[in-house]
Amino acid sequence: MTTLGPLARWACAVLLAWSCVGTTAAGAASRERLSLDPGWLFHRGDVAVPPIRGHGASYGNAKAGNAPGAAAPDFDDSAWRRLDLPHDWAVEGPFDPNENASQGYRARGIGWYRRYLQLPESDRGRHLELQFDAIATHSTVWINGIVVNRNWSGYNGRNIDITPYLRYGNEVNTIAVRVDADAMEGWWYEGAGIYRHTWLVKRDALHIATDGVHANPVKTGRGWSLPVEVTLESSARAPRDAVVEVSLIDPAGTEVAKGSVRARVGALKSATARVKLAPRDPRWWSVRDPQVYRVRALLREGGTEIDRAEVQTGFRTLRFDAERGFFLNGEPVKLQGVCIHQDHAGVGVAVPEAIWAYRLRRLKDMGVNAIRFAHNAPAAEVLDMADRMGFLVMDENRNFNPSPEYLSQLTWMVRRDRNHPSVILWSVFNEEPMQGSEIGYEMVRRMVAAVKALDTTRPVTAAMNDGLFSDINVAQAVDVVGFNYQAGAYDRFHKAHPTLPITSSEDTSAYMSRGEFATDRAAHVLDSYDDQPADWGATHRDAWRAIAERPFIAGGFVWSGFDYRGEPSPFEWPSAGSFFGAMDLCGFAKTAFYLHQAQWVHDRPVVKLVPHWNWAGREGQPIKVMVATNAPRVRLLLNGAVVGEQDVDRFEMATFQVPYAPGWLEAVALRGNAELARDRVETSGAPARLVLEPERTALAGDGLDAVPVTVSAVDAQGRPVPTANLHVRFELEGEGAIIGVGNGDPNSHEADKAGERSLYNGLAQVIVQSRRGGGGALKLRAVSPGLQDAQALLELRAAPALPAVPGAQPTTTPPYWRISPPQAERPDPHQVLADSDMNTWGWGAPPMKQQPQALPWRTYRAELRLRADRNDGHARLSFLEIAGRAEIWVDGVRVAEKTSASPGPLSVPLAAGPLRREITVLLQSQPGQPSGIVGRVIVEAGP
Ligand code: GAL
Repeated sequence: MTTLGPLARWACAVLLAWSCVGTTAAGAASRERLSLDPGWLFHRGDVAVPPIRGHGASYGNAKAGNAPGAAAPDFDDSAWRRLDLPHDWAVEGPFDPNENASQGYRARGIGWYRRYLQLPESDRGRHLELQFDAIATHSTVWINGIVVNRNWSGYNGRNIDITPYLRYGNEVNTIAVRVDADAMEGWWYEGAGIYRHTWLVKRDALHIATDGVHANPVKTGRGWSLPVEVTLESSARAPRDAVVEVSLIDPAGTEVAKGSVRARVGALKSATARVKLAPRDPRWWSVRDPQVYRVRALLREGGTEIDRAEVQTGFRTLRFDAERGFFLNGEPVKLQGVCIHQDHAGVGVAVPEAIWAYRLRRLKDMGVNAIRFAHNAPAAEVLDMADRMGFLVMDENRNFNPSPEYLSQLTWMVRRDRNHPSVILWSVFNEEPMQGSEIGYEMVRRMVAAVKALDTTRPVTAAMNDGLFSDINVAQAVDVVGFNYQAGAYDRFHKAHPTLPITSSEDTSAYMSRGEFATDRAAHVLDSYDDQPADWGATHRDAWRAIAERPFIAGGFVWSGFDYRGEPSPFEWPSAGSFFGAMDLCGFAKTAFYLHQAQWVHDRPVVKLVPHWNWAGREGQPIKVMVATNAPRVRLLLNGAVVGEQDVDRFEMATFQVPYAPGWLEAVALRGNAELARDRVETSGAPARLVLEPERTALAGDGLDAVPVTVSAVDAQGRPVPTANLHVRFELEGEGAIIGVGNGDPNSHEADKAGERSLYNGLAQVIVQSRRGGGGALKLRAVSPGLQDAQALLELRAAPALPAVPGAQPTTTPPYWRISPPQAERPDPHQVLADSDMNTWGWGAPPMKQQPQALPWRTYRAELRLRADRNDGHARLSFLEIAGRAEIWVDGVRVAEKTSASPGPLSVPLAAGPLRREITVLLQSQPGQPSGIVGRVIVEAGP
């Protein structure tokens, strides 16, 4: 089916006339999106720049391409650590009581990354963009010694046009990144380093801009319309014409609507092409049945495809109603949400996509239908998953600030995320003290306007924890008022503002230690009976009751879905992680998981008993037993005998006191007399055998796929031992690696990056990742003294690795040369050029070709900064092409001569010595012939 919007086919969408004399670079190839993750060098700590003194050094320091220290292209990084991204260096370090509790008592500090790359000649004339998906926290990026980007948030991506600064062919480009993770944006663990992916995107000079496809379906009476905007950019040297073809692809991969429009883009300009598609009877996107469509934009020039981009979209309507809450596709949907941070056991914030998918599956299992990524936008891949899995997302901006630099963080988020059907709300801030003031109101007003300029289809909220009733406040500037806590004000606010839609943006904040059922504050242990709310919070059950019973509240977002590092409230050292999660840091369920599952899952029976039934020494004493179930009634049996039966309050669930006797305790979920489901806990003996349970048994051998493996212990009869805290060691064979371990104990100081871990209340987790090009099988073994080992076999399926930019070897070359004026006589090689003289001699870098000249002699001089690994006495200084006769002097000593005047190479041995050397070339041209240092000058490693 071919559909056209109101714009006539082939009509010119945007015409930016701009005349320019120059060549039009034809597109060499279509878009390439290459991973830049492999092949980095890393240095933990800052790299001091020697003080700059003197006129010559100061003058040089001020020039593009001359960045000093570790940002310099020829900086000696030979001793740096090699690693692949994503990388979080904070999680590699030990716990330290002198570090910040909020950041999980781990040092962050400063770090440097460098990478080398070569680009084929065929890339010349294309547009090359360096993309960092996120760097924690402040970062500066240099390409070939030129600073190209500074960024002040650890949560936004940066798309950096590096086209003008690049070198092609044999030449090597250097990327240097300084990361300042002493800067903090949160009061939780934020990690440190380049912790999301890095890409090099190569496109034609005329191309679709990054995040340049905007496609939000609009419901029109009985049908749908899909207006698509495609932003084009051009780095070409003259205006160019192209055709933009837009198509809609249904979930089965079939093209179901199509349209096209012409566009002209001026040199170094951008233009917007608009096409309106009218899809017929699309399948709707919903939480239960998330039908994800794709919009593809193709750019053609003269019939040849020069670029393409694809985004996910979905057909759904949304509305927040002040009386009746949230509506998706016209149906009321209560937001059963959680707030989550972005770190996971073992890996810190460098969380592989496969582990994110696991986390989201855990949330689905819990009955969660909404996620607030607190307090920052998540990785792009996570939102793709949210679309496909059917989550409703509150996408939250980190920094509350409408000044231009910070506003760009907000608009980056909206541009990147505005096509996702999962995103239903933009949040501009979390808990800002200025929320109840005129300044806060004015700031939010500007941020809301910036959002609306990019997306009018979703409401904007702000997560307020006060100020709601002040004369002028932020609630007056947003579409949906977000309540953090303040449950006592729900009714009062609604009464005062009956037309303002409300959601809880954050609630609960109740503590639990997984698998613990007795509070011991001295040991920093909090029981898991849902009776430990923070002073400002409520129990999981009370918080949800307050929301569920009020139809005017769209829903809730529990603080928090998972535990996270840092914010060890209500404790401090030695606790290093939070206690708020419905799940622990590994994604293992606490009681809160089951309470919400019972409240939120309606399409299958849920019944879960707590605690475990290992209470040796407590025989005959009452044990508090909770049953979380969505059934109306529950019966409890101890060793087969009925010990209680209750109607279940759908919020409070059922609680019993059962005198302990070893054996088995069983909860039977009932409707009338019909049994719906049952759950059992059983007294176990001592641990006898380890068990390894991978969440999936096969993984792709692409170096990205990863699987969490649950480690537990069972007794001789195979019964889980929920009190086991024994130490386990892991061995992995095959083409993969253990990338982290955890056990969910917020008080644990065991290493995340290790091949060992203790069980915490019966459980630990090992995360295994494949290696690029991996195949065959991975064999994971778990060993603990006195116990039978466990083994897990994981199939490694051959999978193409993501296309990546190969790493390159650094080359040392002088950053620039000084060139004397021509002289009649052979110059003195020791001639001193005054430090303050910037103009008598010229400046250059190869190719330095002088046209035939009357005066035959010139001096060329440069400083060579040698790398330590080239200062071994075997390296050579290679002049790839010198035209004319030449003498080479190093540090005032003549080391070589080129006697032939015809163009040719010259290679000079470099004796071991100082790292900085002065190179002087005396060059004599031949009458009527060009002369000069024409080819590159590089240091080559010796044999
Ligand atoms: C809120 C805050 C969250 C977290 C939580 C703990 O005030 O928004 O980030 O700190 O408290 O209860």
